[in-house]
Amino acid sequence: MLGESASGCPTVKHSVVVIGSFVQDLAFYTKNFPRPGESVVGDFRLCPGGKGFNQAVAASRAGVSTLFVGAVGPDAFGQRAKLFARQAGLHAHFVGKPKHATGAAVVTVNAAGQNQIIVSLGANLGMRPRDIPAYLLAPAQVVVCQGESDYVTVAFVLRTARRNGAITVFNPAPMRAEFDPALLRHTEVLIPNESEFIALVKQCPTCAALLRTAPFNTAGDFTEAGLRAISADALHRLCRCLQVPVVIVTLGARGSFVSQPDVYMRIQAHEVEVADTTGAGDAFVGGFAAGLVKFKHHIFEAAHYANAVAALSVMQPGTAPSMPIAREIARFLKKRDHR
Ligand code: RIB
Repeated sequence: MLGESASGCPTVKHSVVVIGSFVQDLAFYTKNFPRPGESVVGDFRLCPGGKGFNQAVAASRAGVSTLFVGAVGPDAFGQRAKLFARQAGLHAHFVGKPKHATGAAVVTVNAAGQNQIIVSLGANLGMRPRDIPAYLLAPAQVVVCQGESDYVTVAFVLRTARRNGAITVFNPAPMRAEFDPALLRHTEVLIPNESEFIALVKQCPTCAALLRTAPFNTAGDFTEAGLRAISADALHRLCRCLQVPVVIVTLGARGSFVSQPDVYMRIQAHEVEVADTTGAGDAFVGGFAAGLVKFKHHIFEAAHYANAVAALSVMQPGTAPSMPIAREIARFLKKRDHR
């Protein structure tokens, strides 16, 4: 598995390159989440996951040439990672980390499709800038990173990608204590969910000053309830404080909010029958990266496309396996009359 690559040939050019996490998901499906001290009975599935891998599968299934670069340990889960990539038809470059275990997660999903996750990042945090061959990054139109990797490596990847002229997309999930806001300097499209957005806002001095002004009135804490209560105008102003060209806040069942320097747009989520919400954010990010390529870097078009990819993914169980293919996405969008 050391440095193994399913597309190691320098001549292969991928439009989307996702540098990030592979995690072996141990997924349990149960009616209700167990309370502390309680045991409940449920079904089990072993699924490929990790935010990076899920995002790469989403972009690739959407029909855009995609490369995943990630790190695994010398164990059974690491061996399965390559098999999963092959089964998903995903080009992948796996870096072997002999001293780390492959990332693993316990994912619990209840009857309403909600999830709870504990993830051990293992080898993902061991990936370093020297592990990423320049030739893999150079041809990309879009480069995507997430918060399940070492932040120094993420900063290196985003900085290099920008120098290469690629669009850099950063999904700060999960927000870890050591997050360095300087990372945002290399980010062109930032895609946080509500809680990640709130954490980013709390770390930003300009945002903090804005929050003390009249439309916000958050003398105390800025919470998810507070975020839901503010107007679209106010949310746009907060997004602008983060000083990233494009901020897309994913709002779960409420859709997403897209903020560009001079314009913003609210996108309603599609109403669908939910089986499993795990990986919905990853479906959005991967779908968005693919949409940027498909729609010639048009942000709103790409976000509409991502919204459909996320809707289709929650209708199926699992994370990477739930990502829809291009034909399904096209059919869905046609039916919903969005394009
Ligand atoms: O976003 C969902 C993913 O987060 C899961 O696949 C799990 O691996 C965790 O990393």
